[in-house]
Amino acid sequence: MDGKVQELLNTQINKEFYSAYLYLDFSVYFYDQGLNGFGNWFKIQAQEEQAHAMLFLQYLQNNGVKPELLAVDKPDKTFDGTIDVLKETLSHEQYVTSLINNIYDAAHNAKDYRTMQFLDWFIKEQGEEEMNAGDLIKRYELFGNDAKGLYMLDSELGARTYSAPSLQL
Ligand code: FEO
Repeated sequence: MDGKVQELLNTQINKEFYSAYLYLDFSVYFYDQGLNGFGNWFKIQAQEEQAHAMLFLQYLQNNGVKPELLAVDKPDKTFDGTIDVLKETLSHEQYVTSLINNIYDAAHNAKDYRTMQFLDWFIKEQGEEEMNAGDLIKRYELFGNDAKGLYMLDSELGARTYSAPSLQL
């Protein structure tokens, strides 16, 4: 595997675990606020990110590369209130999209078609993650300022359950 592609894929394991840690931090914040549904939504989001990390790890192993596990940073976002957290989520997903695109560029330059195909799933997934984060902002802006609306939104987010990624390696 091309050295640059390999390095970026390895770094992405860490970025995905950082994403998990960040969303777990948001989850902890919401549980502390008594918004258990939001807390649940972000806890499941954290599980998804861990699954993404494992896919990058498995992909490297499947291609004969030994992954190197790097230190995961402490979540460092500062936020003041629900809307801040939701906006941080969207901007973080946009950042992750830029990372995936960057790996795709490197794979394309190296004519690494297998990695490009592997990344296709993540490109689609990032579209969904940005859409979900954007929808959450819109719905919070519509309903979040009303106690009853917020209660219903929180209840709905509390019903989210985890399902493993559709990508199998
Ligand atoms: Fe693994 Fe939310 O991107």
